[in-house]
Amino acid sequence: MIHIVPKPTDTPDDDSTGAVIRELERAGARCRVLDLGAVDPLDSEFENELVWVCGIRQDGHQFETLKVLSLHNRVINTPESIVACASKVVTTALLKKSGVRTPETAYVRAEAQARDFLLRHGEVVYKPLYGYDGNGIRLVTKPDELGPGPWYLQEYIPNDRDYRVFVLGGEAVGAICRVSDSLTHNIHQGGIGTPVTIDEEMRTIAEAAAAAIGIDYCGVDLLLDREGYTVLEVNGTPNWHCMAAPIPRLLAEYLIREERRMRA
Ligand SMILES: Nc1ncnc2c1ncn2[C@@H]1O[C@H](COP(=O)(O)OP(=O)(O)O)[C@@H](O)[C@H]1O
Ligand SMILES: [Mg+2]
Repeated sequence: MIHIVPKPTDTPDDDSTGAVIRELERAGARCRVLDLGAVDPLDSEFENELVWVCGIRQDGHQFETLKVLSLHNRVINTPESIVACASKVVTTALLKKSGVRTPETAYVRAEAQARDFLLRHGEVVYKPLYGYDGNGIRLVTKPDELGPGPWYLQEYIPNDRDYRVFVLGGEAVGAICRVSDSLTHNIHQGGIGTPVTIDEEMRTIAEAAAAAIGIDYCGVDLLLDREGYTVLEVNGTPNWHCMAAPIPRLLAEYLIREERRMRA
């Protein structure tokens, strides 16, 4: 049985969870939606099961429940990797530790350090530490635009588009580029996504980013500059908007394979 934690932001028109459930059912896999609000993770009946987390609420209860469940069950993605991705500074640190190219970044509390980083780079991008969908991201060019700290600041990489690569089981399986007139090219900010072919350099850096986090599957956001691709962030509960690759089917196959492996 595959237990599925649905994405809280699903809608009838954009139903990630449903798309994968349909593929699981088509493949004859047994699955059911798991309401984390109705689970006691200390109940020892729930053991040796596969739990797929399509999405998670950014609240303590869901996370703690999953973390406890993961002691005796296989949770995909692992709660640890989802949390690492949720924090932009932890993601940056893991990328740097593995030598994966990422823009120069500072995470500071002292305003003097924030100003110093800004002066050094001229233009920087401020990002909320646990932000998503491009929310709250802004370009800072003057010290009085810094706003309140602490600050996660990144050198601004000039661009007119970004890339999202879907990595599953260590392999880049789909990619899009996103274009918009604004700073943030996220689909939720009005970016237009178009499938692109995965080139070798894109494959290498996206797969290295996934390995740096240690995650079953993820969405890796990239920018391209004169020196090549650089990783902005890794998404631990990614969507697959505009991808040409059949992500729901590939995800379903991966979950079925992992469940078989548990039973072997
Ligand atoms: N350092 C940067 N330089 C230029 N643009 C950036 C930079 N960082 C982020 N962006 C733009 O903002 C978007 C959102 O940033 P990202 O780090 O992916 O955060 P989020 O979790 O909100 O998607 C990116 O897809 C890109 O378009
Ligand atoms: Mg992003």
